[in-house]
Amino acid sequence: MADIEKQVINGLTGLRDWVDARFPLVKSWNEHLAKYYAPKNFNFWYFFGSLALLVLVIQILTGIWLTMNYNPSAEGAFASVEFIMRDVPGGWFIRYMHSTGASAFFVVIFLHMFRTLLYGSYKKPRELLWLSGMAIYLVIMGEAFFGYLLPWGQMSYWGAQVIISLFGAIPFIGPDLAEWIRGDFVVSGVTLNRFFSLHVIAFPLLLLGLIAVHILALHEVGSNNPDGIEIKKNKGADGIPLDGIPFHPYYTVKDIFGVAVFFIFFFAVVFFAPEMGGYFLEHANFNPADPFKTPEHIAPVWYFTPYYAILRAIPSIAGSAFPGVVAMGLAVNIFLLLPWLDRSPVKSIRYRGSYYKIALTAFVISFIALGWLGMQGVTPLYTWLARFFSVVYFAFFLLMPFYTAMDNDKAVPDRVTD
Ligand code: HEM
Repeated sequence: MADIEKQVINGLTGLRDWVDARFPLVKSWNEHLAKYYAPKNFNFWYFFGSLALLVLVIQILTGIWLTMNYNPSAEGAFASVEFIMRDVPGGWFIRYMHSTGASAFFVVIFLHMFRTLLYGSYKKPRELLWLSGMAIYLVIMGEAFFGYLLPWGQMSYWGAQVIISLFGAIPFIGPDLAEWIRGDFVVSGVTLNRFFSLHVIAFPLLLLGLIAVHILALHEVGSNNPDGIEIKKNKGADGIPLDGIPFHPYYTVKDIFGVAVFFIFFFAVVFFAPEMGGYFLEHANFNPADPFKTPEHIAPVWYFTPYYAILRAIPSIAGSAFPGVVAMGLAVNIFLLLPWLDRSPVKSIRYRGSYYKIALTAFVISFIALGWLGMQGVTPLYTWLARFFSVVYFAFFLLMPFYTAMDNDKAVPDRVTD
């Protein structure tokens, strides 16, 4: 090794040791990466946690640059977005990355959550990990909802109007609550200002804090895996799980591969189909918000439509949409109960009986069907279909204690299979 190289390495090691004497640098690196032992059998479904982190970084960085040119006022918002798209150098790229990133976040999160259902990762000892994930999910939904008002297009405006007026359906406090959220009698510049502040600072902070909790909870109990076996139960003489491999470099390399594949899809959308046929950027949102002209067809962005379909499926009582609002709220929050609804002794779908497999398939079909129905106009047939799929959706959860207890689960091996 040349002298100069030796000097550089000595210098860097010295710097590391200097920092390490004052801050747990090497300790944290080892605890969370180099000596964090993850099951050796991670598969495709384990890409999405790190991809969720990646999308978060994309959203924060592009969000910072959008904010530099965005004007959060009813008079200036729409024009400032057009200014970003046409006049700010690279502005279109930053904006399309942010709008595509919003949808990508939900794609990644839905797959990440689905993995949990496949492998029973919400079950003991990962209940808090699951609950922190659910809190993240709720915050991301809020974040997307606030962000969608900001371009101040027709759909931004009327979407917010519809969703906020749902709070008005709550008995007694509803109308005051809706007014409190809007800060006005209708959605206005006041609403835009507060949504802007929630979107750019309050919710991102909340999200970062919750993600820290999520990762800490994960590293406390350790990752589950496609076999649903606790690798910590089988340790070698050195105290290292026999089925574990260090996260770094094995899974850092695997995750970098995932990032590369993700970027191919992500940038294909950004460059070639940023509106994604009206799913990622709705056509009506290319018209500025007009409080005097309700669009013919108001539908939320695709990731909210399963819940929107449930809302519309439930009949009103005495002209009040309250029952639908309750059903919609339950549909989102019922996931919180999963660790306690599932009575199976087995985690992974590999060793579960047929009841759970059938129930999970029916649930996925109902979620997708509801998502599609939520995008359509209202017809009697669609309403009945939405009712049917809402029943399937809730049955997955409410019948879970029974079918998971009765299922003909298979024997789980002691060690992970490769
Ligand atoms: C910004 C959002 C999120 C980020 C950055 C994130 C990050 C991560 C990471 C890095 C992992 C470990 C790698 C992996 O298992 O893929 C993980 C695991 C996990 N996450 Fe998330 N997550 C997010 C949202 C959620 C949500 C919404 C849920 C559920 C409601 C959730 C539930 C879980 C569970 C149960 C595990 C453990 C899975 C297992 O070990 O099998 N996460 N998360």
